[in-house]
Amino acid sequence: MCGIVAYLGNAQAKEILLSGLARLEYRGYDSAGLAVMQETAGAGAVVEPSGEQSNEAKRRRTSSGHRISVVKRAGKVSDQSAACSTDNSAGTLGIAHTRWATHGPPNDKNAHPHISHDGLLAVVHNGIVENFTSLRAELQRKGYVMRSDTDTELIAHLITDVRKAKWMPLEEAVRQALSQVTGAFGLAVIAADEPDLLIGARRGSPLILGIGADEYILASDASAVVERTKQVSYLNDGEMVVIHRTEGYQIKTLENVKLIREVQLLELSLQEIQKGSYKHFMLKEIMEQPEVLQNCMRGRLLPDEGVIKMAGIEQHLPRILAARRLIVVACGTSWHAGLVGEYLIETLARVPVEVEYASEFRYRRPILGKDDVFIAISQSGETADTLAALQLAKQKGCLCLGVVNTVGSSISRETDGGIYLHAGPEIGVASTKAFTAQVLTLTMLALKLAGERGELSPDELKAKLHACSRLPNLVRRVLETQSQVVQMARTYRYASNFLYLGRGFSFPVALEGALKLKEISYIHAEGYPAAEMKHGPIALIDAFMPVVVIAPRSDTNYMKLLSNIEEVLARNGSVIAITDEGNCDLDDKCDFVIKMPEVEEFLVPLLAGDCL
Ligand code: F6R
Repeated sequence: MCGIVAYLGNAQAKEILLSGLARLEYRGYDSAGLAVMQETAGAGAVVEPSGEQSNEAKRRRTSSGHRISVVKRAGKVSDQSAACSTDNSAGTLGIAHTRWATHGPPNDKNAHPHISHDGLLAVVHNGIVENFTSLRAELQRKGYVMRSDTDTELIAHLITDVRKAKWMPLEEAVRQALSQVTGAFGLAVIAADEPDLLIGARRGSPLILGIGADEYILASDASAVVERTKQVSYLNDGEMVVIHRTEGYQIKTLENVKLIREVQLLELSLQEIQKGSYKHFMLKEIMEQPEVLQNCMRGRLLPDEGVIKMAGIEQHLPRILAARRLIVVACGTSWHAGLVGEYLIETLARVPVEVEYASEFRYRRPILGKDDVFIAISQSGETADTLAALQLAKQKGCLCLGVVNTVGSSISRETDGGIYLHAGPEIGVASTKAFTAQVLTLTMLALKLAGERGELSPDELKAKLHACSRLPNLVRRVLETQSQVVQMARTYRYASNFLYLGRGFSFPVALEGALKLKEISYIHAEGYPAAEMKHGPIALIDAFMPVVVIAPRSDTNYMKLLSNIEEVLARNGSVIAITDEGNCDLDDKCDFVIKMPEVEEFLVPLLAGDCL
């Protein structure tokens, strides 16, 4: 969840880095910092070195005529801006980072960039060094003094250590140091003795190179690049980029094989990543959902013809239809969307589906074969576990498809085909509109497969497609319940636990509702299949346990849901029901009733998801 931005060009780096950091702040926001290469009158590096140093390092420090100036602290990017305004770090090369703490608490010393102990180089890093303990012990044994609790600092010392043993250019030293690192990284490095050089490298954590007019921006996310340029090249796992002020850039493998990489045009506008009149990005993205649904269906859904076109999977259709099973792999919210997909595809198309957490799947030696179709779902297209699971499925010969939002992302590049969500950039930390678009995409896929397999007649399919085409307007109506939601939030603001219940298609939506509450309100919440409540969680219900129940009358098990509500009420629980507009059954029983337009059961997740 951290963010990297680095700059090499003719403009002052500081302002560009700060503006890039502000765009990346949504990825991690407990601390931030930047390092700028400054010309000096031969003063060397900014941090006073400690520990053993080679003569060569000393000579390089004093003769380089450059120093690295660092400003970093716990807090928001705006705090960095304030600190930078009193700092005279002029320079046209720099690296910066927003941090979401993993190794060590969020404080000034753990904020990135991290400086090598001889002060010569600075590193920013996303990812996790898994052999942290052994590397740290080894470096300490060699006399390196740790100034932070982070794994990133080790990378700075490792590069220094490699250079010290036999003096070598920064590029080679980065390569050799990274060969000792186990785990994930996306990183940027600068060194005061090579002041016109910026190096980036990745394994499991994204990096994108923006190529402007006489300038380069290296970032973990396109939103930090788009303000300066739309010409970009993506780094793949196991690659590095060496950017030189006068010699240009070269993408290579970490084994030093030069690569030719096409330059692509970024499909992202500055307007899309601005808040506009909204108070925050999450609200903007929630309100964008009707438009997102429209964009997701545009050109694909042809209700009058009873046709769904999905250009990215059309050529793979024979293999999909002949598949033994579909294996859907994802994390977090995307996993919840995948679970809705399982219910939809199995119910409508009668194709077996398995849904797996990517973080489990990749490590558990899954049984995979050529007749399996693997589907990775990811908003960002960069989630390391999902990417690793995809690579595993590829090795095993599965047809690999992606349901991805971010165009040009690693997962979209590494799959054989797939379906883009067209939800636009999701800047808010919590996934909202992307979940809606994922569920709609999987609904369209389920209907397409159902039509192809003859599970739905042409007339049934047309009717269902017409129902889908009405969704944007229906979601608009759901969003009008906003004032009721605000009132509920006031009522329950001191609650410390919530339960979310749903059955069938709505069960994954209950899981998603609970995740959103935890993530955004810091209130503990659990999602359950409604019938599971009696097998344990019911013991928790009392007047202090609000229970959200998704109970539309179109639910096959609506009567059973009514019984579940009675069970909660019998224990004095407070019920918030989500049901359809014509339903008055719950008005007198529940504390709050949110009403959504009445739709067929298979479309309920798309409306109920917007109520949560
Ligand atoms: C929750 C949320 C996360 C992501 C998860 C996967 O609101 O955003 O749970 O869904 O980290 O991310 P993607 O979809 O980018 O692979």
